Amino acid sequence: MIGKLNHVAIAVPDLNAATALYRDSLGAEVSAPVDVAEHGVTTVFVTLPNTKIELLHPLGEGSPIAGFLERNAAGGIHHICYEVADIHAARDQLVEQGLRVLGDGEPKIGAHGKPVLFLHPKDLCGTLVELEQV
Ligand code: CO
Repeated sequence: MIGKLNHVAIAVPDLNAATALYRDSLGAEVSAPVDVAEHGVTTVFVTLPNTKIELLHPLGEGSPIAGFLERNAAGGIHHICYEVADIHAARDQLVEQGLRVLGDGEPKIGAHGKPVLFLHPKDLCGTLVELEQV
């Protein structure tokens, strides 16, 4: 069911420092920061030959990654995103197998303008997993 690894998201306490690290030390192609208000994050996209890294920083009050950064002061891997062809079919199949979808269970439009949903980390080896329909 799952396809390509779309991205790995890393929560960072200092977005400028993390961007400089990926651009200058690791020599990667990085985007300008993008505010994604509906997800409460500012994102920098790091483009790699085979996937993307998303550097996430909290935006506004009650950001969903604020608590994560409190527990992981140096930052850390927040989630990984797999591509699926049909997000509703994937969701229904996973729910049938007992996996939990976060929120109201309905896909939302994600940072790339495509439908996404998140699966409970306790059901997936301790990893928050995002599914994105491509
Ligand atoms: Co993501």
